[in-house]
Amino acid sequence: MAGFKDFYQYVDQTRLIAGRGLLESTGFEFMKEGASRVFIVTDDVIRGTGLIDKVHAGVEDGGLEVAGIFDGVPQDSSTYVVEECAGAAKEAGADSFLAVGGGSVMDTAKVADAVFTHGGTAREQEGFFLMPRANDGMGAPEPIAPLACIPTTAGTGSEVSMAAVIKDPEEKVKLEIADFPLFPRLAILDPESTRTLPAPIAAATGMDAMTHAIEGYVSAEWNPHGDARALHALRLIRDNLERAVEDTADETARGNMLVAASLAITIQLGSVHAMSHPAGAHFGVPHGVANAIHLPHVIRFNARGGDDIANRYRDINELFGIESGGSGEAVGDALADHVSGVTARMGLPTRLSEVGVPESGIPALVEGAMGDGTTLLNPREPTEEDYEELYRQAL
Ligand SMILES: [Fe+2]
Repeated sequence: MAGFKDFYQYVDQTRLIAGRGLLESTGFEFMKEGASRVFIVTDDVIRGTGLIDKVHAGVEDGGLEVAGIFDGVPQDSSTYVVEECAGAAKEAGADSFLAVGGGSVMDTAKVADAVFTHGGTAREQEGFFLMPRANDGMGAPEPIAPLACIPTTAGTGSEVSMAAVIKDPEEKVKLEIADFPLFPRLAILDPESTRTLPAPIAAATGMDAMTHAIEGYVSAEWNPHGDARALHALRLIRDNLERAVEDTADETARGNMLVAASLAITIQLGSVHAMSHPAGAHFGVPHGVANAIHLPHVIRFNARGGDDIANRYRDINELFGIESGGSGEAVGDALADHVSGVTARMGLPTRLSEVGVPESGIPALVEGAMGDGTTLLNPREPTEEDYEELYRQAL
């Protein structure tokens, strides 16, 4: 995996501001992105913490109006919720979206914004680089209404990414949607927005960020720009994740985890995500928990796939300060043990059977993982039998 790549593309179109006390300037900052009547998308738990009142005041402080608030996003959002949200924004006469929440809220706002702007159903938005473009699809993508994100978990990185994942409850699949217009225009990282984040969710979402960084770094589609981000994300995760979970009042750790999550996010993923998407779609396993369970098994599998892959894991071991022997197997095993240790110390489940996945569910999970787009990006190509074995190990 060393050498110079024949081709890669690196895109980052989100203006990010990070620091303390930024929520009060939400309106001032969002106005610069063309917003005037803001539709806030959130969930009822976050609304109950009082955070939305602060953001609401911040929007009005900048001279913008809050056109409406949609707080009906569930933990695992669906195409129905997206359409309801888009309809509510239309009815409210909004011209922009402000997502305040975790991955489910931000992804709902992204796809709702696309439906709001272009019409059609949520399902019709599915696909990579399929959004409307000028010149019969050959020209510049048409923008969607201005979108700003204030993440309330440190994990998904959706606030700076062009991807969204939404459940299709009828087909029992996770729809993946990615295109340049889905990059939020603005992301606001303020540790105040994760002040009431419960420790188990901080742990699970933090493991999602760790998974993005590790999978991104060893992905078949690795690239130097992605490497720089992944490695610094891993340094921040190494120094702040367990700290932020042990003491949820530690503002510095929470702030650094928000930054880590925004650095870790990438669309160059692999088999951990391929396995976790169907676990979420079929059995409702929260995304970060599923990743934490699958990550060590996929590391062991990949590290046995040749020196190029093992050497990438070796870089990560060095960064984490993990002693490992010379063989690829030893490198993978040492990192997998370390990851399992972090997961267990934070009190997260380590097995699928602990989170409601029965052995009889494996065939459907294998089918889902084989059909997931991220399988193609895994550095070692998994067969159906490999996935079956990996799920059995994780059970
Ligand atoms: Fe993820």
